[in-house]
Amino acid sequence: MPTTVTRLSSVRLASSLFESSFSSRPAVAASAPGRVNLIGEHTDYNGGPVLPVALERRTAVAAGVEDGWFFVSALDGTVRGVEIDRPLRRDWTDYLVGVVRELRAIGAAPPGARVAVASTLPIGAGLSSSAAITVAAAKALSLLAGRRLTPAQLIEVAYRAEHDQVGVGCGRMDQTIAAHGAPGTALLFETGSGAIQRVPFPGRLWVVETGVAHRLTEGYLDRRRAECERALELCRELWPGLAHLADLSTDDLPAVAARLPADLAARVRHVVTETFRTRLAADALARGDFGQLGWLLVEGHESLRVDYGSTIPEADAIVEFAMDHGAHGARLTGAGGGGSVVVLAPEDESARVLAEIAQGFRERFGREPVAWSTRAASGVRRETLRG
Ligand code: GLA
Repeated sequence: MPTTVTRLSSVRLASSLFESSFSSRPAVAASAPGRVNLIGEHTDYNGGPVLPVALERRTAVAAGVEDGWFFVSALDGTVRGVEIDRPLRRDWTDYLVGVVRELRAIGAAPPGARVAVASTLPIGAGLSSSAAITVAAAKALSLLAGRRLTPAQLIEVAYRAEHDQVGVGCGRMDQTIAAHGAPGTALLFETGSGAIQRVPFPGRLWVVETGVAHRLTEGYLDRRRAECERALELCRELWPGLAHLADLSTDDLPAVAARLPADLAARVRHVVTETFRTRLAADALARGDFGQLGWLLVEGHESLRVDYGSTIPEADAIVEFAMDHGAHGARLTGAGGGGSVVVLAPEDESARVLAEIAQGFRERFGREPVAWSTRAASGVRRETLRG
């Protein structure tokens, strides 16, 4: 299987793209990681817990002050002049425009900037490339304005840029791990209370890309979110004070099934059981019990497949091959409808497990999946520019 090893530094790429595009050196640079969510899918907009890990792969933003706004990405190398107050263009520049608008709202935007973006993250692979760019841009552009925002401010700017400006029905998981990631740890983030707790994750995990891109802006996540909001309204007829779907317990599910249409009851069942699994998974990880953790991941994948309708055959197959060949666990990660599978395997067995996954995938789908490994890495940071 082609395992892409990315030793390139996104900040070096962004900084040299800046120099070649603008014939000057950037004044500041910042980078933020992508993520895999170990478990806790579609719980972050339902008040439940999530358990993400920051990836070694990152997106870097290099910036310098300018009259007006000029953006360039390593994806195509074309400099675009952008008007912040004009309607969005429905391309990657929207994320930067969203960040600038939200920084302006808190008085933390520079008057204008040249901005270069480069990333070692695949786009549309369910690894949160959008939070990586918005969190890195919020950090770099606020530094350019002479401001040091707190992690909570960076998260809020990035979340509003994506949710309110670009219009994606996301929760706050991706921005939170992009800001708070730390080497050797996963993050248990209770989205209902806002509590965050680091859980040791010293090992490696594998990411197997399905090669099926998801585009959150096409409304899939919005539909699921709207279904959950409707389900919450109906549940409040039974439990008037209910704040979030994740506050229900598994004992409440028979009443939900009796009252709600079958598709909405299934969404609720996923959210409630996933909330339960995620807290158990955090405990299992803390104890180093990879057997139980892996089993919970597979249960979580099944719940996404049966109750949430968010898996795809390629992801189901990768999970099946992984489990047939000795992985601890595997699960589609991120919003779904495409994206990547996270695989946990004993490190000394991982090469064999990954080779078996590749062979099974090739036989079933006639192409090679891309896979790579990572350790838990750090969150957003200012980058030093080399002289
Ligand atoms: C996307 C969103 C997240 C979360 C996941 C599903 O990645 O950006 O906020 O809702 O989907 O768990």
